[in-house]
Amino acid sequence: MSHVVVTGAQGFVGRALVKRLLAEGLGARAVSKLTLLDIAFDTPHADARAPQIAGSIADASVRAQAYATPVDAVFHLASIPGGAAERDYALGRAINLDATLGLLEDLRGAAHGARAPRFVFASTVAVYGEQLPAVVDENTLPAPALSYGAHKLMGETLVADATRLGWVQGCSLRLPGVVARPGDGAGLVSAFMSQLFWKLAANEPITLPVSPTGVAWWISVGACVDNLLLAATIDVERLNARRSYQMPVLRLTMEDVVNALAARFGEARKALVSYAPDPFVERLFAAYPPLRTPEAERLGLRHDGDVEQLITRAMAQ
Ligand SMILES: NC(=O)c1ccc[n+]([C@@H]2O[C@H](COP(=O)([O-])OP(=O)(O)OC[C@H]3O[C@@H](n4cnc5c(N)ncnc54)[C@H](O)[C@@H]3O)[C@@H](O)[C@H]2O)c1
Repeated sequence: MSHVVVTGAQGFVGRALVKRLLAEGLGARAVSKLTLLDIAFDTPHADARAPQIAGSIADASVRAQAYATPVDAVFHLASIPGGAAERDYALGRAINLDATLGLLEDLRGAAHGARAPRFVFASTVAVYGEQLPAVVDENTLPAPALSYGAHKLMGETLVADATRLGWVQGCSLRLPGVVARPGDGAGLVSAFMSQLFWKLAANEPITLPVSPTGVAWWISVGACVDNLLLAATIDVERLNARRSYQMPVLRLTMEDVVNALAARFGEARKALVSYAPDPFVERLFAAYPPLRTPEAERLGLRHDGDVEQLITRAMAQ
């Protein structure tokens, strides 16, 4: 039986992860308690195993509440997105960096039985920055172009160090653009990547702020959750010293995704898409080179396989 903590449990990835943990458990073990941590919750969770703690991970007393029952695994997903962190440096640092360190330090001495708790950290492809080489691979040196990416990269280092110190058994995964986030994306510049799916399915028009040939790295929320679960359950002896992996991705143009959505929902839906490329958005979200991830794939981390599966799993929520 396991006690699992999820920070950012109300977020897009968090909700999908929570659903899977309650339905499937964690590896071979059932989840007896799943502590959900987020700033606020709309309603109590329907499952009695999932108590909610409303508060900030920056607050030590909130973290202490979450860790009050001995913890077997933490999925640390809470974060301030890149744009918001850029607008408010202090907030970005407090949540994306300081609170990550707090969550790790508070697990000092938390090992129960023979094992330190597993700690899975959602990092990001934003660690690579803007000047990407012709091919990105697992030896590409990160060069973050935003404080968000810089703090996530520091978080990866902290997870590896806390692992070395025996506080946790950590693993960071660098997430690409995860689809398909419901709703309007709450001001996220990358929201168009998800809205494309929902709009075409609903037979509604959409204007994309990138060109048809713009190339992005994609993963469905389902495949993303598969990878997070694997990172928390895989034999730790197999993990590298950095304790950090790039999630495998599908590299697709906007047109590839539009064509596949049209094949799924009706060819006429292609006409619903117009393009109004914005150089800033294109540079940040639609100019990705090939990405090679053999080390991650040997571990069992996976992308969706093909665009059809990406659509199916992106929309199965
Ligand atoms: N979704 C993506 O495409 C993507 C890509 C790269 C990396 N990531 C990373 O994956 C993780 C999950 O992403 P997501 O899309 O679910 O994000 P999200 O923004 O949908 O969810 C994050 C959650 O964290 C919560 N949160 C923010 N500050 C908090 C605080 N101080 N205390 C407690 N909770 C707080 C928010 O309320 C929100 O519910 C994040 O760490 C993100 O940086 C996501």
